[in-house]
Amino acid sequence: EKGNYRHFMEKEIHEQPEVIARTLTHYVDPFRLVVRPFESIDFKQYDRILIVACGTAGYAGQVAGYWIEQIAGMPVRNEVASEFRYRDPAVSKRDLALFISQSGETADTLAAMRFCKDRGLTTAVVVNAAHSTMAREADIALPTLAGPEIGVASTKAFTCQLAALAMIAINAGRARGHIDANREKELVTGLLEAPRDVSKALEMEDEAKRIAGELTQSRSVLYLGRGVYYPLAQEGALKLKEISYLHAEAYAAGELKHGPIALIEENLPVVVVAPHDHLWDKTMSTMQEVAARGARVILVTDSAGLAACDVKREDVILLPDCAPIASPIVAAVAIQLLAYHAAVYKGTDVDQPRNLAKSVTVE
Ligand code: F6R
Repeated sequence: EKGNYRHFMEKEIHEQPEVIARTLTHYVDPFRLVVRPFESIDFKQYDRILIVACGTAGYAGQVAGYWIEQIAGMPVRNEVASEFRYRDPAVSKRDLALFISQSGETADTLAAMRFCKDRGLTTAVVVNAAHSTMAREADIALPTLAGPEIGVASTKAFTCQLAALAMIAINAGRARGHIDANREKELVTGLLEAPRDVSKALEMEDEAKRIAGELTQSRSVLYLGRGVYYPLAQEGALKLKEISYLHAEAYAAGELKHGPIALIEENLPVVVVAPHDHLWDKTMSTMQEVAARGARVILVTDSAGLAACDVKREDVILLPDCAPIASPIVAAVAIQLLAYHAAVYKGTDVDQPRNLAKSVTVE
């Protein structure tokens, strides 16, 4: 039931504060502010985490890659399931194979999981559909509690995946002695505030809607980000193209001068996903370069980013201030709203975009 919403996607975007909270509650001991240990995973036993998924779930996996390296000091390898399964990949029993899937039925991800099982690896899955094939077949199922996701474009499943993956990073960090109790508490506290931060981010919907209307006047949109915001930029471009059919591409901001800067021309919309962080100055100089070439910069940032920004920008989507660990979750809301409203402007079938299926159970 859509209730008062026009589309399931809109409803699912707005459900995020609640379902992220539900997912976090599953993993956190709210009194001690620690992540409950996963009895079934001894992170010290593994040398590496292999993360395998498709599409949006893959972008959640890429964010997790940054987190796990930083919080747990553990090497991570991110894989696209359809590439991994056909490559004869070199894996080791000291790899923890981690899959991510909303449906738990995606053919390529499932085949990659079976491949790893056959090789004797421990398999874990971050999965939304509790009774799915992957949830059954994995050694360890780590749930996201997003509830049924009806819109073909994934929204609440993505942010719940990020919440669950942050829990994995923290658990691994503690088990491996890479973070101390204070740091864990700080991270958990920051994440527990994410539902409220996401609610605040939803308040800039009118602004996102106005900007989305302008995006539809262009033939193409570029998304840029660095660090954890690079996968967010990729997710933004994917979301825009799949439901609004506008062409969109994402680049790691530092890659711009290795080719794509040739695309920059007068009035090209460039969405820069850049809450303030240690990479801010770098992203800023990339923004400077695109703005100097006449691009219309749409900056997605927080108050610290806005205060530090001296580049000419066309528009700003101002995110609420939040803990760094919650920031990719909060930034996701902005890119979802941009894509959703661009699609509504264009009058596409938002919940059932052409050529797409909710779960890709054939290759
Ligand atoms: C994009 C989208 C897809 C899925 C991908 C994996 O909005 O929904 O890219 O993320 O097909 O699906 P699951 O997570 O079900 O394995």
